[in-house]
Amino acid sequence: MKHLIDIKDLSVDEIDEMIKVAKDIINHPEKYSHKCDNKILATLFFEPSTRTRLSFESAMMRLGGKVLGFSEANSSSVSKGESVSDTIRVVGYYSDIIAMRHPKEGAPYVASSNSIVPIINAGDGGHNHPTQTLTDLMTISSEKGHLDDLTIGVCGDLKFGRTVHSLINAMSRYKNIKFVLISPDELKLPDYVKSNVLDKCKIKYYETNTIEEYLPKLDILYMTRVQKERFFNEEDYKRLKDYYILTKDKLKIAKKDLCIMHPLPRVNEIATEVDSDPRAKYFEQANYGRFIRMALILKMLNIK
Ligand code: CP
Repeated sequence: MKHLIDIKDLSVDEIDEMIKVAKDIINHPEKYSHKCDNKILATLFFEPSTRTRLSFESAMMRLGGKVLGFSEANSSSVSKGESVSDTIRVVGYYSDIIAMRHPKEGAPYVASSNSIVPIINAGDGGHNHPTQTLTDLMTISSEKGHLDDLTIGVCGDLKFGRTVHSLINAMSRYKNIKFVLISPDELKLPDYVKSNVLDKCKIKYYETNTIEEYLPKLDILYMTRVQKERFFNEEDYKRLKDYYILTKDKLKIAKKDLCIMHPLPRVNEIATEVDSDPRAKYFEQANYGRFIRMALILKMLNIK
């Protein structure tokens, strides 16, 4: 049995194969509509979610399976003091696979060592979000046609942004990738990601405070939200929340085939006027999420 806690739990070949399956699901959904008959996915979300939870549930239903679970800790016995380990041990009797989101870094890892069914990390604190990364890779592969030879700007909260950490981890394994790290000083990419991933993989990267400085060179611009829930003090959040706002005007200097991504939810960091720009791909990105999660469920349940 294999769990998915970190994107590195999957090899590049496994990811590429899953993207291939997800594309086949888009083209031939009928082939897959009974693959998970009699299977149950449990979604245990100790933190709010729209896309991840609902796309997992939709994915399992489109495969013919069923879903159960909870969308907030307060509606489970965790609110009575039950541990994550005990919860997972029990839910394993009721389901075949578990997708779990938790505000504490490492909680899905702890869960995996107490589980009799595969665990999928659906986001743990400011740490990792591997299925968002699969969604992002599927989007890049579909929209750009390749995952090598790209200059990727990641902008916003690079300190607490788990989607950014997982994306950098994943893309650093492809050829000729460069990163532009765009953030205020307070929200810079943590040193452990720079040394353990970028330096180790010999990935070139540039750091800047402004979107404009490197925008003309970017193939991908990955915007992120400044996350209120990760701040210890309201003043810091208020000072930084509108640091970046991508507008139509700013995009005038960008490449014609730039791909603008965002894991969503968005707050103010992309003006709604950008939504009609053909380079804006963040809603397509959310849609790709369901197909790659279908491919992931099939892989983890070992269904061909
Ligand atoms: N991208 C993402 O994880 O969205 P949700 O928080 O809505 O699941």
